[in-house]
Amino acid sequence: MTEAVQTPHVGKAQFTPRVFSGIQPSGGLTLGNYLGALKRFVAMQDEGMETIYCLVDLHAITVWQDPERLRQQTREAAAAFIAAGIDPVKSILFNQSQVSAHAELGWIFNCVARLGWMNRMTQFKDKVGKNAENASLGLYAYPSLMAADILVYHATHVPVGEDQKQHVELTRDIAAKFNHDYKVDFFPLTAPVIEGAATRVMSLRDGSKKMSKSDPSDQSRINLTDDADTIAAKFRKARTDAELLPDTPDGLDGRPEARNLVNIFAALADISVEEVLAQYAGQGFGTFKPALADLAVAKLSPISTEMQRLMADPAEIDRILGNGAERADAIAQPILARTLDIVGMIRSRR
Ligand code: AMP
Ligand code: TRP
Repeated sequence: MTEAVQTPHVGKAQFTPRVFSGIQPSGGLTLGNYLGALKRFVAMQDEGMETIYCLVDLHAITVWQDPERLRQQTREAAAAFIAAGIDPVKSILFNQSQVSAHAELGWIFNCVARLGWMNRMTQFKDKVGKNAENASLGLYAYPSLMAADILVYHATHVPVGEDQKQHVELTRDIAAKFNHDYKVDFFPLTAPVIEGAATRVMSLRDGSKKMSKSDPSDQSRINLTDDADTIAAKFRKARTDAELLPDTPDGLDGRPEARNLVNIFAALADISVEEVLAQYAGQGFGTFKPALADLAVAKLSPISTEMQRLMADPAEIDRILGNGAERADAIAQPILARTLDIVGMIRSRR
């Protein structure tokens, strides 16, 4: 399904295709994370690309996190990745803070990115609302660290949900400005990979809001750890309209809640929206919601069962993350070293 992955080049430099992506361990993972990101991560791994996946704990603390819960959530997210099909041998799986090159390159990028660019970031504006004075400096600099996550591996492709598109575009702007300012063809211009029927899964309570692990209402989301009864109850209570399902996707225009449930169905079943409608046109939500709940339970319960099994051995998860961090570090260090040379830093420590 992934669009033909081309070997990108910048000037004379050629870059081998390499995939990087990250998820914040700032709460339990949701169906949005699964369909928008995790499922795509597994697909790219299984297409045989070099894949690097990261639990971005340094990003998570841009908003205060209870230390013990952060550790727990990081392990739980790692378990979710593995349970969903990430093979820690084929892919590199680790937590960000174990590879210090991310933070070091992040600082250099803070000196490349412009305030004007940061001020346009919609995620920051949405998160702080009218309360920007009280937000952390880290939350503001967040997209610059994200650019470092990606570029410290010279990653060429970044699978993400729709909401991260602007951050990947900023990553390209940072790479281009660095290359220009230092007259090098050093960083690739990374492409976002936004694919699938559910690149923006919406809240089950409000079709205009993204499904999010930080939404105060647990009813708004499906968590990967929800049991079958909870999943069924949440879909049953999901907000919808009183109309029947249409026979073409156009018929979902102006019906955000209905469109969201159809998209979720399509993404879970690996079929198109047209195929879902071919099956359910003319039916009401009384029929569609239970079918969707059954499908979601069938797809998600093996993942949550496997997560629970993995969570019983936290030391093993930590070992996997440590291993992944060593492999990641081996790629990142030489790229960071060359960056420091380009910028004009003395490196004389042995
Ligand atoms: P986050 O939970 O913000 O760290 O997001 C991790 C990944 O999941 C990113 O690639 C997001 O774009 C993706 N993601 C998060 N929420 C959703 C959603 N509601 N729909 C689709 N993708 C999402
Ligand atoms: N900002 C991303 C999110 O909240 C998480 C993230 C951090 C990320 N670094 C990344 C995603 C690098 C892709 C690549 O969803």
